[in-house]
Amino acid sequence: MYLSERPRRLRRNETLRRMTRETQLSVDDLILPLFARDEPRARKPIASMPGQFQLGVDDAADAAAAAMDAGVPAVLLFGIPARKDAMGSEAYNRQGVICRAVEAIKKRCPGLCVITDVCLCEYTDHGHCGVLRENRYGALDVHNDATVELLVKEALVHADAGADIIAPSDMMDGRVGAIRDALDGAGFEDAAIMAYSAKFASAFYGPFRDAAESPPQFGDRRSYQMDPANGDEALREMALDIEEGADIIMVKPALSYLDVIARAADEFNIPIAAYNVSGEYAMLKAAAAQGWLEEKRAVLESLTAIKRAGAKLIITYWAMDAAGWLQKQA
Ligand code: PBG
Repeated sequence: MYLSERPRRLRRNETLRRMTRETQLSVDDLILPLFARDEPRARKPIASMPGQFQLGVDDAADAAAAAMDAGVPAVLLFGIPARKDAMGSEAYNRQGVICRAVEAIKKRCPGLCVITDVCLCEYTDHGHCGVLRENRYGALDVHNDATVELLVKEALVHADAGADIIAPSDMMDGRVGAIRDALDGAGFEDAAIMAYSAKFASAFYGPFRDAAESPPQFGDRRSYQMDPANGDEALREMALDIEEGADIIMVKPALSYLDVIARAADEFNIPIAAYNVSGEYAMLKAAAAQGWLEEKRAVLESLTAIKRAGAKLIITYWAMDAAGWLQKQA
């Protein structure tokens, strides 16, 4: 039988597949999230995220050192403070959990890239990402500009502690520009900003809110995070953050938003990050625990798909496993 093309010729064996593979997932692409608790030593399992832990500050430094040894270039830190209040004041305490974790990690692993999540939801007693004020319609809502002022303070203490990259995840308008100005004004002009630019109001953050003890105590985050139906708006959000000075833009979650990642990669020429979020982790973990999916293959396929869509950086709770699996393949 004559066929003008036989694509199967190049799929015949692994050598040919390796030679013609378009997307190479690498350990260099991975960022490991860590949850730091405000105590020296702790290792508290997160029920909805099997294999993940809330760690004491010194344990977070141990985990960071292990990541570096495995070749993972960066960690992303989330803080669980000892006390929460309406204004999230532990978030911008220079002596707070994140600043101490950054210092402990930088002391152990000066070469590791330390990224800090900048948001208030882990630090407020109401669990929202900013300052609550009654709006002019009589409803309690997160006040944009009052929140930006506090996010700026948070970014400054993180930079002062030694963070390499500041990652605002709050979705307030104008926060990237305000943080950039403040960092430059304080002599932190080399601290980069990775903006959670297209962050959707997603059901897939559920397990994270257990992990960070940050579920909103009333309502939801739909007045500040994006509507999952909006792709064009995601591009506008990303363009705004680039204009305001973002060095890296992020799409979050990753797997239900691969189209947004692909459009961003077409449109912009700065590095794109994607967050393979807690719910995406929990889904595969649960199926793998049942024996319904092969975890390693499903994870490597998902991460490769995120990269193929156009993300250069992938934040994933599987960073340590993936680093090991990728090494063995090579
Ligand atoms: C907010 C923040 C969240 C995540 C990262 N930063 C939660 C939220 O917006 O509710 C979610 C990450 C995940 O689900 O893995 N500080």
